Amino acid sequence: MTQRKLGRGVAMVGAGMSQFGVFPEKDTRDLFVEAFWAMRDSVDKDFDPHDIEALYIGNYSSELFEGQGHTAPIMADWVGLTPIAATRVEDACASSGVALRQGIMAVASGLHDVVLVGGIEKMNNLPIAEVTNALATAGDVLYEIPAGFTFPGFYAAMATAYMDRYGARPEALMKVGLKNHSNGALNPKAQFNMTIADVMLRKQASAEKKGRPIPHWDDEMAFLQDDRANPMIAWPLRLFDCSPVTDGATAVLLVSTDIAKNFTDDPINIIGSGQASDRALHGRSDLTSINAAKLAGQQAYDLAGVTVHDVKIAEVHDCFTIAEIIATEDLGFFSPGQGHEAVEEGLTARHGPHPINTSGGLKSKGHPVGASGTGQAVEIFTQMRGRASKRQVDRDVDIALTHNVGGTGQTAVVHIYQRD
Ligand code: COA
Repeated sequence: MTQRKLGRGVAMVGAGMSQFGVFPEKDTRDLFVEAFWAMRDSVDKDFDPHDIEALYIGNYSSELFEGQGHTAPIMADWVGLTPIAATRVEDACASSGVALRQGIMAVASGLHDVVLVGGIEKMNNLPIAEVTNALATAGDVLYEIPAGFTFPGFYAAMATAYMDRYGARPEALMKVGLKNHSNGALNPKAQFNMTIADVMLRKQASAEKKGRPIPHWDDEMAFLQDDRANPMIAWPLRLFDCSPVTDGATAVLLVSTDIAKNFTDDPINIIGSGQASDRALHGRSDLTSINAAKLAGQQAYDLAGVTVHDVKIAEVHDCFTIAEIIATEDLGFFSPGQGHEAVEEGLTARHGPHPINTSGGLKSKGHPVGASGTGQAVEIFTQMRGRASKRQVDRDVDIALTHNVGGTGQTAVVHIYQRD
């Protein structure tokens, strides 16, 4: 196999995100402006946005969610960047992870020195049934959707296959949600910045205020096992196994490494990138792993010249709790069938040996689908530079990874980051 390498080094020198959540008063433009300003504020030295030469923006479906297509030049306009080249990238929930890869290639090739990469999605304009239909178009509308599949349904099928093959318990899925909510509680920009214990207290307070019987649970697991508190969405996935419907935007600034010190004394180099594709879920023989993610991960490790043992933290695509378990196996943190035991044993906790999704992940931070890939890069930038405040990991992070999946794994993109 040919050993690939980037034409020249690429560094991330700024990264920011809007508040994630439900914002009836904001549209995509407002959210992207918010993310852009957060990115600007994160650049340590003086920086003139007019130095930006190109914009790559991840966006899954502003047509279906907002009735607005052709979003890239609009975003460029709203942050004052026209007439630079503005390109939209669509690969379902991997849209902005793939946009990041396009930005890396633009800098690594020498075409541009300074590139803005972003992600946007405004999902909450529509009622939930229409959101579910819009998301379903990321599946195969010829063979899968007419058979009744929805996205919770796809991942429920993967969870069922995984549990059947490896004997995993529903409690392992719940532990992913518990962990990610406890991380998200420390992320002020998360949609659900609350632990499961906080959710329980809120529900009790709400019942008391309405004069209803106050529910009681012995602990968080009892809450998650309660069909009323945590209803089934698609067996075995319950409400707290699902990422929410989110409005949000993200932005990162890429430059060539030779000029990175003009922007910051603490750049984050992007040293690995991999991307692969696969057939839709109905065409696969194995539902317990995502082959495109395995391939993308291997490409990224090879390009970076590192192995999974070098990776100190990772943000992985936990659109549903089962997806996080499978991701940790596909990337090599754990052997096939051991990811569920790892989470039950706390190995992926913030201060465990393999911290996964310190941001709260898509589960708790939120999942504005086209913005999630660059959102993961924002967390890595923040953690690697030691600026994650209360959720900061307890070790130096020299190598980190992001893993972003489109649909059920028809697209996967992995990046590896390095701090000197
Ligand atoms: N996790 C935890 N709580 C959630 C939640 C989630 N994913 N989604 C909603 N809630 C909470 C709300 O905050 C609200 O709480 P409250 O009553 O205390 O205020 C309550 O649940 C009801 O919210 P609502 O917005 O009416 O939920 P919903 O039934 O419309 O949506 C899901 C719930 C699971 C159907 C929706 O979140 C969903 O479709 N998620 C998956 C999104 C998806 O497929 N993304 C792409 C992945 S590839």
